[in-house]
Amino acid sequence: MTVEDAVDHPVDQPVDEPVDEPVDEAELQARFDAVIARHDRVEPRDWMPERYRATLVRQIAQHAHSEIIGMQPEGNWITRAPSLRRKAILLAKVQDEAGHGLYLYSACETLGASRTELTEKLVSGAQKYSSIFNYPTLSYADVGTIGWLVDGAAICNQVPLCRTSYGPYGRAMIRVCKEESFHQRQGYELLMTMMRGTDEQRAMVQESVDRFWWPALMMFGPPDADSPNTAQSMAWGIKRDTNDELRQKFVDMTVPQAERLGVTLPDPGLVWDAERGHHDFTQPDWEEFLEVVKGGGPCNAERIAHRRAAHEDGAWVREAASAFARRQDAAAREVSRG
Ligand SMILES: [Fe+2]
Ligand SMILES: [Fe+2]
Repeated sequence: MTVEDAVDHPVDQPVDEPVDEPVDEAELQARFDAVIARHDRVEPRDWMPERYRATLVRQIAQHAHSEIIGMQPEGNWITRAPSLRRKAILLAKVQDEAGHGLYLYSACETLGASRTELTEKLVSGAQKYSSIFNYPTLSYADVGTIGWLVDGAAICNQVPLCRTSYGPYGRAMIRVCKEESFHQRQGYELLMTMMRGTDEQRAMVQESVDRFWWPALMMFGPPDADSPNTAQSMAWGIKRDTNDELRQKFVDMTVPQAERLGVTLPDPGLVWDAERGHHDFTQPDWEEFLEVVKGGGPCNAERIAHRRAAHEDGAWVREAASAFARRQDAAAREVSRG
């Protein structure tokens, strides 16, 4: 079954399949547990515990919102791209993020949460998006740094999600990850080009990396000790690695890339620990993280205001699309009545 099939058959729609014998909740729970234990997929029509469904809606919605809000910091530079080539790359990348948001809203709809309802929750602040997108983009080097570090962190987060237990989410992630890897490469290639340029361009890259390093580390969420939902999400197979494991993987992956690039990661505590086989590093400022998540980051208000305005400006498109769908529907009925 593809993501599209899943979207075509939301849970509350009747499907032409033999109906199983009624079974009690304990039996349903046992079947669900067996699917999870086998590392198999849970599909939209399967019974699932209410808390599993709610956790997925929260996580997938937050992910979808991040893709959509994440278009803003880079979208800010589209009209000021330094060349036609850079503009074409950036446009393609930002459009990909819109597509990621849409796959994810569709995955959420298979759980019974409508896109209208989720958008409402985003603009009212009831649902969150990744804290990283509340930081400003101050130079064109930020386009490169976001691709390298932010999309790089997204890849670390999302590759394990291709094996997540909920089918539509995992399948959406497979496609998303292929595109994220292009995003990461275009960012790295941009930075590499700037590093081969003038002293001023090199300084611009370093300044950008200095600003984005710590917020990028925060993208994996709070330390495991302060992440109460992690254990349950892992038991359900929604998450496959803890926040700290993913953060470590990201640091280990990024250090050699920084060396090749010739930039310094702004952490004097970043050293190879031969015994652990990993890099030691300093934790980001978790107070700042909490502040940003609560809405007090440098761009929170601006991002939401922009999203709300875009949603309101788009009302006529939604109305026109619904009117068109109603007309098509009426015409189809007319034909079938003969
Ligand atoms: Fe994305
Ligand atoms: Fe991306």
